[in-house]
Amino acid sequence: PRPPPTGEAAGDAGAVASLLAGLRSAPPAIKTVPCSFLYDGPGSRLYDAITDLAAYYPYRAEADLLAAHGGAIGAALPADAVLVELGCGSATKTGALVAAAAAAGLGGAAATAYVGIDCSADFLANARANVAAAVPGLPAGNVETVCALYLDGARAVRGMHPTSTLAFLWLGSSIGNLAPDAAAAFVTELFAIGGGPGRCCLLLCTDLWKEAGRLRAAYDDDEGVTAAFIRNGLSHALACLPGGLEAAAAAGARPDAWQYEVLINEGATQVEMRLACPAPAGIAAGAIAPGVGFAPGEQVLMEVSRKFTPAAVDALAAAAGVGVVARWASEDYGIQLLA
Ligand code: AVI
Repeated sequence: PRPPPTGEAAGDAGAVASLLAGLRSAPPAIKTVPCSFLYDGPGSRLYDAITDLAAYYPYRAEADLLAAHGGAIGAALPADAVLVELGCGSATKTGALVAAAAAAGLGGAAATAYVGIDCSADFLANARANVAAAVPGLPAGNVETVCALYLDGARAVRGMHPTSTLAFLWLGSSIGNLAPDAAAAFVTELFAIGGGPGRCCLLLCTDLWKEAGRLRAAYDDDEGVTAAFIRNGLSHALACLPGGLEAAAAAGARPDAWQYEVLINEGATQVEMRLACPAPAGIAAGAIAPGVGFAPGEQVLMEVSRKFTPAAVDALAAAAGVGVVARWASEDYGIQLLA
């Protein structure tokens, strides 16, 4: 499992421009790093390790819900839909859902079509193999992949299947890593690409707001895996700046020395993962990049993980001009069909 970024790919000039803009924020605004910088090679492996942690409940909560309701979910999808997975990674969880959808609603394996979208080509061969293995009888030509960011990939799929109904699958609660306005803009754009309700739908997975202790345990784990994941994201981001990691180290601020801090922000129903600059004198403006400096202890917001309530999902759908037509939920997690 590895959710790819929804913004610019971290290597793009646009991503470095967004990074610089985020790091040029000055107090009282908090500095930010786009979350695409979290998912380089080491970051993707650390994220996989996070999903294995006992304290990181969202991964299993989603798997349990898919296992319990796969048939009903499959039956709720439009009968002739092409299943299009955003950020499929190796599609380890998806096969069972595709099999259930094929059996329950899509007219059997031979009539089922799946397209996985991921920005990392390394995962796509595994995705094809995993989906094919999970759905006996699925013709090889019915499993396709596209190497792209989510929305670019969705546009490509629309071109590949111009007349089909598209059922977008977005697992992993990665929508929680977008700010509310960006999440609504994303869903709006996705439906525009798909051709609007009637020609597409979205199966959206969301983690639910819960008691602070469980959230803290999941995002500030005792093993320090999440802290390592977030620090790796900062290393990756600093390495993309003109001064590189060397300039940060010269200022006494090697990324492994930044203090990891988790804020459970109840007002915004989100978990905020932050790093605080360790250098006693801070980092002088311009040492890492033009216009970028850090006061001693100044924090950088590395990632936000927003948690939802059913009402928040309804509001998101309404903001995107669509409705929630079905939902399956446990105490921890929700899966909604938007159309
Ligand atoms: C990918 N995303 C849904 C994860 C989350 O839970 O927000 C990323 C993550 N960050 C730290 N732990 C997990």
